[in-house]
Amino acid sequence: MDWGLQNRLSRIIKPNDGKAVMLAVDHGYFLGPTESLEQPKKTIHPLLKYCDSLMLTRGILRTSVDARFPVPVVLRVSGGSSIIGQDLSNEKITTSVKDAIRLNVSALAMSIFVGSKNEHNTLVSLGHLVNDAEEYGIPVLAVTAVGKELEKRDARYLSLSCRIAAEFGAHIVKTYYCDNFEKVVDSCPVPVIIAGGPKLEEHAALELAHNAVKAGAAGVDMGRNIWQSVYPVPMIRAVRAIVHGNVNVNEAYDLFKRLCKENPLKNNKPKPQTQKLKNKSKNIKQKKKK
Ligand code: 5RP
Repeated sequence: MDWGLQNRLSRIIKPNDGKAVMLAVDHGYFLGPTESLEQPKKTIHPLLKYCDSLMLTRGILRTSVDARFPVPVVLRVSGGSSIIGQDLSNEKITTSVKDAIRLNVSALAMSIFVGSKNEHNTLVSLGHLVNDAEEYGIPVLAVTAVGKELEKRDARYLSLSCRIAAEFGAHIVKTYYCDNFEKVVDSCPVPVIIAGGPKLEEHAALELAHNAVKAGAAGVDMGRNIWQSVYPVPMIRAVRAIVHGNVNVNEAYDLFKRLCKENPLKNNKPKPQTQKLKNKSKNIKQKKKK
């Protein structure tokens, strides 16, 4: 493998254990100001030192991340549709490789929409992006996106999508966790990373990360299950303990609860969904009592 490409890949997937904790904060590219990511700088800053890399768009990178902080960047370069538009699969490449080089990124990321109206366009875009990025030794991460059709997330569909992404030359594939996840990993010849998906209760999110790694995932690229938690720092540290520390779910959850006690919510001003957050805090307290 080309030296530059291998060097960049090893910034994302750590060579000592072959695992990765990526923090996904690219949601605004189609969701706008997602809950708890309304002010990206505030969300990202406390989490930076606990992630191996950051996945985001160039707009949020430029405005919300200190260029002097040495976090490897996985730059989302696809987009073109919004949650209120006609068709989420209608994406094209929106950021040039030249700009990505200027931003000193470690990898590029784009979504493919297998089985959708725009399957062909997104797959051909992936092929072209790999051609262009490899010229400069930059790896490409393909996201097997499902748009609004979350029910598509089963082993049959995700194996198909992941394998196609790898066949087109993606160096890493990001997908969703599902039952029989081993099938997805085993039939994909490049590292598979999981997204967290919509917010779950913390123990369930840790279980998801643990099951994925146990089934062979190279790690996580998690967003909402970290920064929509009332306790984002304890959550990313617990996820990290699963991915890099080999701890089991209960050990990770114990760590999470201990860190919650040590990190009172002093920086978390009340958020718009105060009621919801209050309930979440109550859930954590209730669990502690059990
Ligand atoms: C959207 C993405 C997101 O980065 C991805 O969904 C990860 O975030 P979350 O863990 O919140 O699902 O690639 O296509």
